[in-house]
Amino acid sequence: MRNITNFKASDEYRNAIHNLIPGGSHTYSKGDDQFPILSPAAIVRGKGSHIWDVDGNEYLDCSMGLTSVSLGHAYEPVLDAVRNELENGVNFQRPSALEKEMAETFLALVPGHDMVKFSKNGSIVTTAAVKLARAKTGRDLVAFPVDHPFYSYDDWFIGKTACNKGVPEAISDLSVTFQSFNIDSLRELFAKHPGQVACVITEPEKGNYPHLPADFNVADFLKQAIELCHENGALFIADEMVTGFKTEFPGSITKYGITPDMATWGKGIANGFSFCALTGTKDIMEMGGIRNTGEEKVFLISTTHGGETHGLAAAIATIKEYQNKNVIAHNHQIGRKLAELCQQLVTESNLSAYIEVVAAEWMPFFVFKDKSGAVSQGFRTLFMQEMIKRGVLFQGAFVPCFSHTEEDVYYFAKAFGESLKVYQEALETGYEKFLVGEPAKPVFRRTL
Ligand SMILES: Cc1ncc(COP(=O)(O)O)c(C=O)c1O
Repeated sequence: MRNITNFKASDEYRNAIHNLIPGGSHTYSKGDDQFPILSPAAIVRGKGSHIWDVDGNEYLDCSMGLTSVSLGHAYEPVLDAVRNELENGVNFQRPSALEKEMAETFLALVPGHDMVKFSKNGSIVTTAAVKLARAKTGRDLVAFPVDHPFYSYDDWFIGKTACNKGVPEAISDLSVTFQSFNIDSLRELFAKHPGQVACVITEPEKGNYPHLPADFNVADFLKQAIELCHENGALFIADEMVTGFKTEFPGSITKYGITPDMATWGKGIANGFSFCALTGTKDIMEMGGIRNTGEEKVFLISTTHGGETHGLAAAIATIKEYQNKNVIAHNHQIGRKLAELCQQLVTESNLSAYIEVVAAEWMPFFVFKDKSGAVSQGFRTLFMQEMIKRGVLFQGAFVPCFSHTEEDVYYFAKAFGESLKVYQEALETGYEKFLVGEPAKPVFRRTL
């Protein structure tokens, strides 16, 4: 078991970076306020399922680039494809010929969808889906689940969060919410805003939702939600950013046999390279085209870097790996084993009342509670600190990738078991006695 105590270079990095980059990173969830003090501030390299920080410390990676790295860091077949493409140049005055191959390859995976647009970030494609829905229906309101973490950094989503400063109220008022996976709540929303809702955008499933009953039927909910949308003249958008290439190949829409009007894809589909996609039916997607002479033009996605060739090459290579190897089965086996071992350790330690193991095979998730049984950021951060000390960069979830091995799972479980001992003691005395520094803070908070 590693015993990581040297964070000297990390501390220097932490001290300098906030003078240079607001937030200290380019994703709030990678920021210093999301981790304990005794943690790596920046990563130098990764290979397979392991990463190395600026002090040279080695970690088992659990989040895999916020779920974007589905095969493994620096995964050779993807790197080969990227290297080959780099030799040809990456951006031209006209589209790269690879765009056609990419479009055909991706659309072959998504039943019922006829057209695709690429972009570099997920927020761009979710916002594009919302725009198309508004254009198609001529309505203004956009609906999404109030208790889901993230759909876009654009105003239609951020305006509804706790940190909505800078977003005009007039914009926030155009977003309306319902309780996730609750058909009655969605029905109430349509009743409250008759003829006004352009679309519902939702992740098709969440692994980390312990409040849903074990026998909750996701397929039924999704089918009912689509029907309800269509009865009310609204479109249904499945956001597969997290679920895509994880719950199934290509995602939950095939797992549950649904055809949303549009779907959005990103993390995982190009093994960490920047490549995202919006897919949809022809009647909707064609609105963003230039062929329907005389019709009003919808300015859909238009970005300089959206068709960058090495991103396309990475995505095509990633898809080939999924097609030729049993990536989903491997990843789910890793997820199942890890959740099973951890649940056993929690039960043996009599900690079931304080640590919940949510055993979603595609992304096991852990809930940490204090002595009173309340979910606790302090206890979660303490657990992170203890796992990090043992060489596991853990934040509360485990995202299995094709490079994770059974050995990694046993290593994780060993670190988990040792961290449980500290947790047990902290339950008696309070986490403050063991945690160095402050607990992690929610990303979406009104004040700093
Ligand atoms: C469900 C979901 N949709 C959309 C996004 C936005 O993706 P991106 O960060 O690539 O803009 C995210 C990112 O976390 C997400 O989790």
